[in-house]
Amino acid sequence: MESADRKQRQRESFHADDPTAGPLTTDQGVEVDHTDDSLAAGERGPTLLEDFHFREKLTRFDHERIPERVVHARGAGAYGWFEPYESCAEFTRAAFLQDPAVRTPVFVRFSTVQGPKGSADTVRDVRGFATKFYTSEGNYDLVGNNFPVFFIQDGIKFPDFVHAVKPEPHNDMPTGASAHDTLWDFVSLQPETLHAIMWLMSDRAIPRSYRMMQGFGVHTFRFVNADGKGTFVKFHWTPKPGVHSLVWDEAQECQGRNPDFNRGDLWDAIEAGEYPEWELGVQLVPEEDEFAFDFDLLDATKLIPEEQVPVRPIGRMVLDRNPENFFAETEQVAFHTANVVPGIDFTNDPLLQARNFSYLDTQLIRLGGPNFSQLPVNRPVAPVRNNQRDGYHQSAIHRGTNYSPNSLGGGCPAHAGVDGKAFTHYTERVDGHKIRRRSPSFQDHYSQPALFWNSMADWEKQHIVEAFRFELGKVDARAVRARTVEQLAKVDGDLADRVARGVGVPAPSGGETASKLSSPALSLESLRGDGSI
Ligand code: HEM
Repeated sequence: MESADRKQRQRESFHADDPTAGPLTTDQGVEVDHTDDSLAAGERGPTLLEDFHFREKLTRFDHERIPERVVHARGAGAYGWFEPYESCAEFTRAAFLQDPAVRTPVFVRFSTVQGPKGSADTVRDVRGFATKFYTSEGNYDLVGNNFPVFFIQDGIKFPDFVHAVKPEPHNDMPTGASAHDTLWDFVSLQPETLHAIMWLMSDRAIPRSYRMMQGFGVHTFRFVNADGKGTFVKFHWTPKPGVHSLVWDEAQECQGRNPDFNRGDLWDAIEAGEYPEWELGVQLVPEEDEFAFDFDLLDATKLIPEEQVPVRPIGRMVLDRNPENFFAETEQVAFHTANVVPGIDFTNDPLLQARNFSYLDTQLIRLGGPNFSQLPVNRPVAPVRNNQRDGYHQSAIHRGTNYSPNSLGGGCPAHAGVDGKAFTHYTERVDGHKIRRRSPSFQDHYSQPALFWNSMADWEKQHIVEAFRFELGKVDARAVRARTVEQLAKVDGDLADRVARGVGVPAPSGGETASKLSSPALSLESLRGDGSI
């Protein structure tokens, strides 16, 4: 079994000097005689500018904070490893998916999405589930969520969506689970949100533990094998203890009693040797079947029902080590959907394409310049060789010249792929006119929310209705409440009636309802994992 400790050995080389090993020093290594009083002109006189220790200490304190993530600000992380059950060579040439004897080190960060860094864990929200695989061919990031679908179809809507979800601009309130009027205004006007909103109103949005959460890559990605053949793939993480949620009253009590309920649970489990474990599964769709579904595989508001494409287990992940320093590791980790390795590629999902721009862009400011991949938590275990140089926080001492072609020595080779290991972009044929219009194949916003509703047990439906009543009931604008209920009526009449009664608007009458049109053969039973939700 190849060791998963490569990352740990690398991290050890970054440890700061042992602070207990000798006297206090400045950042320059000069020993300090006294740190409790500043240097003053006389016993009761003014503080002297020449007290470099005092100034350094305060300056360093003044600069301790970096911007929090614009979304997913609050999180908890852990290290561990991943091993495949068997070779996936038929579908992908990704090295970490070939050999059950090879364990790949990982770092995972779980997060809430909406709240700031200091918010409570157990709010009603989507949870992030981001995994960095430190593979022998470079870092691969699977930046997923605990819902299989997202709220919007095109990344150009992401700023609008997040602005609607966040507290309102004039008073920065409310700070709870949702910015009520603005979120529901957006939802009622943008029905593509409805599927993810159904998940958000379900118990899936209040997980009992990060250890008991599913994770999803959400987008359709592409596996590419050694022959260059592509296969569409959706990623699923399934927790070993099953999927378990809090009920709303518990969640609210936890917010008051222990805002670190989920973070603490993850930390304590790992400290106690109860290592969290997930199985990685894939839904595979041959490229020939791209149009075999009544939805578009490129539409991130849709899932592929497991009755149509079963999930095939391909490996397992165990988290067995807490970080040593929250800021250095969990706060500074930088995930990016464009961090892929040979054998894994993108599709034209317009949400994924936007993400492939956004993560690096935001990290350039959040982590202060272009060298954050040198930070211990982000550094690949694979060698890094290129002509990229300089910039803020450069911590490597590069040797030689830095251009290619280069006959004077020192420049890195410009060639790639000579040994067959390089990443080569999938050769997909693309042609067409430039067009700024949503594809007609993205237009059905109601069938899958109805599928979700129909798959729920009565008590789960009741929880969903209560969640809608609680959240929508706080909306001041009656027109927004009414419009949201009208949208729900297109999903299911009973759902709309029950919500309408709770939020003081008339129940819409008649109209076409997607739940009556959905195929009864399709249910989301298989998405439950092996526990109850
Ligand atoms: C974090 C953008 C959709 C999962 C972030 C961050 C940004 C962002 C700017 C902060 C990153 C950082 O500061 O390091 C976007 C955009 C999206 C989008 C523009 C749509 C166009 C999604 C979707 C998912 C997702 C669909 C799930 C499949 C995450 C996760 C994090 C994150 C898990 C937290 C990563 C961490 O733990 O550091 N996103 N996001 N995002 N996003 Fe997205």
